[in-house]
Amino acid sequence: MASSDDLSGKRALVTGGCAGIGLAIVRAYRAAGARVAVLDRQAASDAFRAELPDVPVFACDVADPDDVRKGFDGAADALGGLDAVVANAGISQNCPTLDLDFAGWRKVMSVNLDGVFLTAHEAGRRMAASGGGSILLMASMYGVVAAPERLGYCVSKSGTVMMAKALAVEWAKLGIRVNALAPGYVRTPFVDDLVARGRLDPVKLEARTPIGRMIDPTEIADAARFLVSDAARAVTGQVFGVDGGWTANGYL
Ligand SMILES: NC(=O)c1ccc[n+]([C@@H]2O[C@H](COP(=O)([O-])OP(=O)(O)OC[C@H]3O[C@@H](n4cnc5c(N)ncnc54)[C@H](O)[C@@H]3O)[C@@H](O)[C@H]2O)c1
Repeated sequence: MASSDDLSGKRALVTGGCAGIGLAIVRAYRAAGARVAVLDRQAASDAFRAELPDVPVFACDVADPDDVRKGFDGAADALGGLDAVVANAGISQNCPTLDLDFAGWRKVMSVNLDGVFLTAHEAGRRMAASGGGSILLMASMYGVVAAPERLGYCVSKSGTVMMAKALAVEWAKLGIRVNALAPGYVRTPFVDDLVARGRLDPVKLEARTPIGRMIDPTEIADAARFLVSDAARAVTGQVFGVDGGWTANGYL
């Protein structure tokens, strides 16, 4: 029986791995025995370098096709190939739709949808040539249920959910599994920023969540580790919710 805690021998790439959920995934994959590389538009901090000296970080804007190709080349060279790829990089967008202009719409689409497509496509091309692998796309519970003043975010994440399903059914014959993760509110710099700008009320939000609290990044990383592990070898085309019960809850 395969263990969801064992990624030994696997070579993994995580986009947006310098902070938040991506960083928690990098830590979890390493602790499970994987070798990991990161693509991120921000440079690794001194703290990252001190904690994770063996994790190469390649400068990359996931919305730029050349950056993504070069980042994958660097990561695949450094690790000797790729068995797991996590398309995690994403941005939030929180603004009334009547105030959303076309540039704002394009911005969230370019990172959250074009970036996920470019990452998954580059991963799929390489895994098809090497005999398979596992791809994980970071969606959100807002790819499954809607919220006001987040039109671009919700649409980009629902597109990510469908991308996981469509790629899963197309690439299964190539030995490539594709799944999506759909977190609820996770305490990361991404959410801290919304709270600081008064765009999110943590008290209301925790009251609305059946488990009564936000999710910890390590709890997303635990699911991300399972989904790329051999324990999930029959799991593909799924949307895996880690939302403390939010999407199941039809009440206050
Ligand atoms: N935090 C939450 O509550 C939450 C909930 C559901 C889904 N998500 C999703 O999880 C993912 C990670 O979110 P987070 O909360 O850790 O965010 P974060 O802002 O804390 O970290 C995001 C990381 O991605 C990088 N990044 C952003 N844009 C990039 C780009 N264009 N190219 C390369 N790297 C880029 C950032 O530099 C950073 O290292 C996102 O896709 C987000 O939509 C987050």
